[in-house]
Amino acid sequence: MKRLTQEQKARVKEILSQMTLEEKIGQMNQESVSIVGGFDVPFEELIEMMTDGRISNEEFEKILSNAERDFHEEDIRTGRVGSLMVSDPRKCNELQKIAMEESRLGIPLMFGLDVIHGFRTVYPIAIAEAGAFDTDLFERTASMAAKESRTQGVNWHFAPMLDIARDARWGRVSEGPGEDPYLVSAFAGAKIKGLQGDRSSTENYVAACLKHYVAYGACEAGRDYNTTMMPDSMLRNNYLKPFKTAVEAGAATVMASFNDLNGVPCTVNKYTLRDILKGEWEFPGLVVSDANAIRECVAHGIAADEMDAAVQSAEAGLDIDMGTTIYKNKLEEAVANGTLDEAVIDDAVERILSVKMWLGLFDHPYVPEEAMDRYDVLPKEHLDLAREAGARSIVLLKNEGDVLPLKKSQKISLVGALADIREEVVGAWALSWRPEDCVSIRQGFENAGADFEYYPCCGPEGPINEEEVEKAAAYGDVIVAVLGETTSMSGEASSKADITLPGEQTELIKKLVATGKPVVVLLMNGRPLALQKEVEMVPAMVECWHLGIQMGNAVADVVFGDKNPEGRLASTFPQVTGQCPIYYNHMSTGRPGGRSKFTSRYLDVTHEPQFPFGYGLSYTTYAYDNLKVEEAADKLIVSVDVTNSGAVDGTETVQLYMQDVAASLVRPVRELKGFAKAELKAGETKTVTMELAKADMGFYDNDKNYKTEDGLFRIFAGHSSKENLCSEVTVQF
Ligand code: NOJ
Repeated sequence: MKRLTQEQKARVKEILSQMTLEEKIGQMNQESVSIVGGFDVPFEELIEMMTDGRISNEEFEKILSNAERDFHEEDIRTGRVGSLMVSDPRKCNELQKIAMEESRLGIPLMFGLDVIHGFRTVYPIAIAEAGAFDTDLFERTASMAAKESRTQGVNWHFAPMLDIARDARWGRVSEGPGEDPYLVSAFAGAKIKGLQGDRSSTENYVAACLKHYVAYGACEAGRDYNTTMMPDSMLRNNYLKPFKTAVEAGAATVMASFNDLNGVPCTVNKYTLRDILKGEWEFPGLVVSDANAIRECVAHGIAADEMDAAVQSAEAGLDIDMGTTIYKNKLEEAVANGTLDEAVIDDAVERILSVKMWLGLFDHPYVPEEAMDRYDVLPKEHLDLAREAGARSIVLLKNEGDVLPLKKSQKISLVGALADIREEVVGAWALSWRPEDCVSIRQGFENAGADFEYYPCCGPEGPINEEEVEKAAAYGDVIVAVLGETTSMSGEASSKADITLPGEQTELIKKLVATGKPVVVLLMNGRPLALQKEVEMVPAMVECWHLGIQMGNAVADVVFGDKNPEGRLASTFPQVTGQCPIYYNHMSTGRPGGRSKFTSRYLDVTHEPQFPFGYGLSYTTYAYDNLKVEEAADKLIVSVDVTNSGAVDGTETVQLYMQDVAASLVRPVRELKGFAKAELKAGETKTVTMELAKADMGFYDNDKNYKTEDGLFRIFAGHSSKENLCSEVTVQF
C-alpha cells in the first residue's frame, strides 16, 4: 500500500474525528457468517463431528445448506462491524448497501477470504509454484486471482502465506513457498505486485495480507500451532525477511500468527508488531489476528481473561479481531476504566480506514452488476495460465533409462485411486473452485489421446485390489502409478509424525514392480515425503504436487514430453521422517557430517537428504563451465557458461549461492542469492550473468545490527544447492 495522498489522509482524519468510540471499535471487529440455527448441536460441535468422522463431509454440507445464517446486518447498520468473510457479489452488495446507506457514517466494509492459490481458477499450491522459480509467473497467477475474486465481492486476500518451512511434518508446508528466505522473498514481492499492482481499475486489485506473522513455520516438532523459540539473528535473517520484502513492496495488511515466539504469542507480541513491523519498517497498513487468536491468548496462559487478552492485543498493535467479538465486547469498557488509551484505538482505526481508502471502497463500494458473471465461463487465458503454471511446477525426480517421456501410442496401465478423483487436484485451502473445472490425471491422459486403461488398484487409504493389479500388469507395456496423499493430509491442522507414503501404496509399488514392467510413479501430495525405499524401487518418479484445476492436462504435457520439466524443489526431501527438520541452508557445524563416527550424522541413515533444495531433472542435461566472479564497487558480477548437453530443448534454472566463510556469527553452509532462467536449444551454450549486491551479503547479529563483514566468500553457481561450481573471492565492504 503506497501512502495515501494528502487529500485522502485528510478524508480519513475527518471521518475518524466524527466517530464514536463504539463505531471505532466496530471497525476493529471482523465477523464471518454465523450459523444460527436449523440443527440441534452448537456449530463448534458440528465442526468437530465432521472432523472426527461422526458425520461425513456430505452430511455436514447438507446440514449447512439448510441452516439459518446471520450476516450481522444489525451490527453493520449500527457501525459495529468493519469487515466480513463473505464471497458472493449480491450478498456483498446487499451488506455494503447497509453499511453505506444505513450506517451513520457510511463507512464501507471489506470482504476477506482465503484465496491462497487461486480463486475459481485454482493454480498450483505455493510449495509447487515456488519451484517454478519464476517471479513473472508468481505475479501473473496472483493478478488472475485478484481479478476473479473482485467480481465475487472479495477485496481482501488472506495471502500470500510467507512462512519459511523447514519441517515437512508440518501440514502447512503445502501453503507456503518453501524453505529458502531468498526464494520466499522473491515470491512475496511478486505476489504483492500481482495482487495489488494493477490499479487501472478498482476491479483489478485487492489488499494482500501477509501471513502468518511470524515464525509460525518454525513450530516445534512440526506440530501445528506449537511454540517457536529462536534468537533474533535467526528470526531476522530467515523468518522476517520475506515479510520485510513484502512490506517494502507495499503490502496493505498483515495477519499475526497463532504461535508464541520466545514465550509471547504473536497476537500480543509488541516486539514483532509495534516495534519491528510498525516501527522499524514503518508499515502503514493494518494487522488482523488469525481466527479466534485473541481468545486463545487465555489458553496460551498469557492473558488472565478475555478483557486482558483484548487489552494486550490492542496495545501490541493488533488492529482487527478476526472472529471472537472480544474487541467488540471489551474494548469500550477498557477505555472507560482507563486500562486502554483511546489513542491506541485511534491508531488502529486510522490504519483500517486508510486501507479502505487505498482500496477505493469509499468511492467504489459495490461490485458492478456486469462484473458478477464475468468469469462464469472461465476465459481461455485463465485455463492456459493454470496449465502453464502446473506444468512448470512439476519436478522430475528420477528418470533412469529415459523411461520418460512416454509415447502417447505406448500401451499404458494407469493405476492409483488419486488419478481419477478430480476434486483431489486442487490441494489444501482452495475454496472457490467448481468440480466441473477440475481435470484429473485420468482425464488429462484421455485429453492427450494416450493409449491407456485405468485400474485404481489402491489409494492413500484403503486396501489393494489384487484383481485390478493383475489387470494392470497384463495390459500396459509401462505402468504409471499415481500415488501420494489426499489434499486433506496437508494444510492446516494436518501435521504428521510419519511422512512416508500413506496406506498400502508402498506395497502396491512392490507388486507393480514385480510384474517386470517399468513403473513410473507420479506423486500427488502437499508436503515433501520420505521416499527412501520407493525411489530405489522404480526407474522414474515425478513430483506433481497438487497443481490446481488444470492438473491432468499439465501432467500429461510433461509425461508425454510436450513440455520439458523445469520445476525444482523449493523444499528439501528427507530420506526418512526422523531427519526432519532438514534444509539445505543449515549452519556450519564444527564437525560437518561425514563418514567418521564423531561427526554430525546419524548411525542409521546418512545426513544427506533424498533430494536437495533446488533439485529437479529434465529430459535434457545441462553442463556448467567457466564460473567467473568479478568485483565492482557495490556488487559481484557472477557469470557462468551453461550448455544444454542433451538432445532436446529445455529451460534451466541457474542458481547462485554464497557462503560467508568466516564471520562473527556462524553462517549457513550455503545461501541462495539469485537465480536466472536460461532457455537453451539442444547443444546451445549461453553465458548467464547474475549480480549479487554487496549490501545483500551481510547478516543480522543478535543485537538487531545488519553487518557486512570483510573476508573470504565462496560463490557457487549451478543446477541445485548441491550441484554447482565454486569460486572464492575476498570482499571488502
Ligand atoms: C486460520 C488460518 O491459520 C489462516 O491462514 C486463515 O487465513 C484464517 N484461519 C481465516 O480463514
